[in-house]
Amino acid sequence: MSLPPPSPEQMQASDRLVRYIQSEIEKSGGWISFARYMELALYTPGLGYYSGGSAKFGAGGDFVTAPQISPLFGRVLAQQFAEALKQTGGEILELGAGTGLLASQILDELRALDIEAPYSILEVSGELRARQQKRLAGHAASWLDAMPETFTGVIFGNEVLDALPVHLVHWTENGPMERGVASREDRLFWLDRPIADSSLLEMAQLLDLPAGYISEINLAAPALVKSLAERLESGILFFIDYGFGRSEYYHPQRHMGTLRAHYRHHALDDPFYLPGLCDLTAHVDFTAIADAGLDSGLAICGYTTQANFLMASGITQLLAETPPDSAGNYLPLSTGVQKLLSPAEMGELFKVIGMSRNAACPSGFAMGDQRHRL
Ligand SMILES: C[S@@+](CC[C@H](N)C(=O)[O-])C[C@H]1O[C@@H](n2cnc3c(N)ncnc32)[C@H](O)[C@@H]1O
Repeated sequence: MSLPPPSPEQMQASDRLVRYIQSEIEKSGGWISFARYMELALYTPGLGYYSGGSAKFGAGGDFVTAPQISPLFGRVLAQQFAEALKQTGGEILELGAGTGLLASQILDELRALDIEAPYSILEVSGELRARQQKRLAGHAASWLDAMPETFTGVIFGNEVLDALPVHLVHWTENGPMERGVASREDRLFWLDRPIADSSLLEMAQLLDLPAGYISEINLAAPALVKSLAERLESGILFFIDYGFGRSEYYHPQRHMGTLRAHYRHHALDDPFYLPGLCDLTAHVDFTAIADAGLDSGLAICGYTTQANFLMASGITQLLAETPPDSAGNYLPLSTGVQKLLSPAEMGELFKVIGMSRNAACPSGFAMGDQRHRL
């Protein structure tokens, strides 16, 4: 496969990041965990994929997300949030707002519904925060530097959990080993070590996978959900992302895990390819997310596919409001909705989980799985 070459400036930035990662490996005694590598590759100020200058989103970038596929995605979410806010009052907090497009769709729809709720964003990338501030200049949004102490209303994130650094584990005949990153000359390579982190070891032992199996364990995602859940006094916590419940995630057929690099709309298996110019992601273990919410006293509103959630939330009714005779408007809208719903595209791989405290669940979960353990 021939991939589009980076510009000389991009190449230089990637080389600088590799040298930075190598110096960190050296300072750490010759080895860093894959989670630390992923954190450096994505979030090193000025050089990491999310913190550097690459386009990232859209046709000229590396991937597209749901709000770019259809404006109806944000409208539907806003309607669900409005249902929740009508009961609980309070605010909306978006995690990882990317370009700010989804926030603008939601804020426009809330305005149309005559709902006034403060909207704040928690974003780790300074570069994306600046883009969001530019896009949302005409909207009443604000940015937080840290999680609020307590919160009432709706907290949500679209495709944020998959961007959190994951640990890699290699199950062997002698027990689970942590797969980390070492460096020789100008090359990064894999190196396995006994697992030192007790939470990682506990999880790797609990999963008890056969020798030869390699996969990710995301400790950061449930930790993030737990701290949000503990702060939620009343309201809903929503996450949308690609992933599965645990038995499907760690299925025998998925023995090489779900870690991928995304570069100019190509999915690659090699996470060492052009660090800083590729997005790195892993699918979400939704069982871990549900457990983190349940352990913090939240109830599960539902866990369902994106297609079920959007249909139960009325996306097809919204589409039907656009007259089909206005082909210029209708065709792109209908193609976008088709992409969000189709099982061959985002409809089944993407899931929505909602968890609540002191609040009834919005109607989008009418077709969701409300079991207490996924
Ligand atoms: C794949 S993008 C998704 C952007 C947007 N939600 C969308 O749907 O287009 C991931 C976003 O999460 C942000 N992010 C990653 N880790 C985060 C964290 N711990 N807290 C807040 N934002 C985070 C990234 O900087 C980026 O804005």
